[in-house]
Amino acid sequence: MPRNVVVTGSGSGIGAALTAALRARGDRVIGVDLRGGEVDADLSTPEGRATAAAAAQEEAGGVVDAVVTCAGTSVPGTAMVTVNYFGTTGFLTALRPALAAADRPRVVAVGSISGTQPVDADVVAACLADDEATALTYAERAVTEGRARQLYPSSKAALAQWARRTAVAEGWASAGIPVNVVAPGIVLTPMSAALFDDPEMKKVMDAALPMPLNGYLRPEDVAAAALFLASDENSHITGQVVYVDGGAEVTLRGPGHF
Ligand code: NAI
Repeated sequence: MPRNVVVTGSGSGIGAALTAALRARGDRVIGVDLRGGEVDADLSTPEGRATAAAAAQEEAGGVVDAVVTCAGTSVPGTAMVTVNYFGTTGFLTALRPALAAADRPRVVAVGSISGTQPVDADVVAACLADDEATALTYAERAVTEGRARQLYPSSKAALAQWARRTAVAEGWASAGIPVNVVAPGIVLTPMSAALFDDPEMKKVMDAALPMPLNGYLRPEDVAAAALFLASDENSHITGQVVYVDGGAEVTLRGPGHF
């Protein structure tokens, strides 16, 4: 049976690779992106998320079999919080009833290995309190203090914790909805392309994120992991952050962290 799968960030990189893989196996993809998707929306605002969720639900006829959130930004600034965190959690929360209406619903959020790196604890706490106004205040403080880049790991660390907490919260596992995160290392997509233009930046990045197994990822490699977690075959994996990173996480955190 073809499934209705909502994919955010479907127009580029990992989201585009996943959309192609889902369509190749016969699923119906409802792509959500700034432009060019089945649903065009800006996930950086509460209004944009609400409109996007309502439109995606309608496109799916009220029943959504899976949602995979790939939309994100690495441009240093507050959008790292409003898109990467709230653009994921707000969108998924709005679609929970349509997921609960499906026979075997699944949720996968794309996080990042960066979520293991130093964060702004105030931003993370405000995100987890679902207080977007306060999160934005702290995010603006980070920008003013020249720490805008820290908002990326902060958004991804908060997202991983939100997913782990949500997975076993009322209305998710109890409604048969697994919630997992795929956390990639460095993926060759338009998002990372700029980093490779600068040889110095590439050196810094390779030192910070060693990937001893098979090197950099292609978007298809990340899509394959998301595809499994979003599939019928994933019956019992939930609340997990699955590092698809060529060994970066284990290299950085060591074998005792699991
Ligand atoms: P990409 O830049 O190729 O694609 C991101 C997509 O998100 C684009 O289609 C863009 O239009 C969409 N998007 C951005 N802001 C949006 C908004 N406000 N509303 C709706 N859509 C919006 O990036 P890529 O590499 O495919 O990234 C996908 C996810 O993977 C992101 O969450 C990113 O943080 C994560 N990731 C990427 C890594 C990399 O090395 N490329 C590494 C680890 C995680």
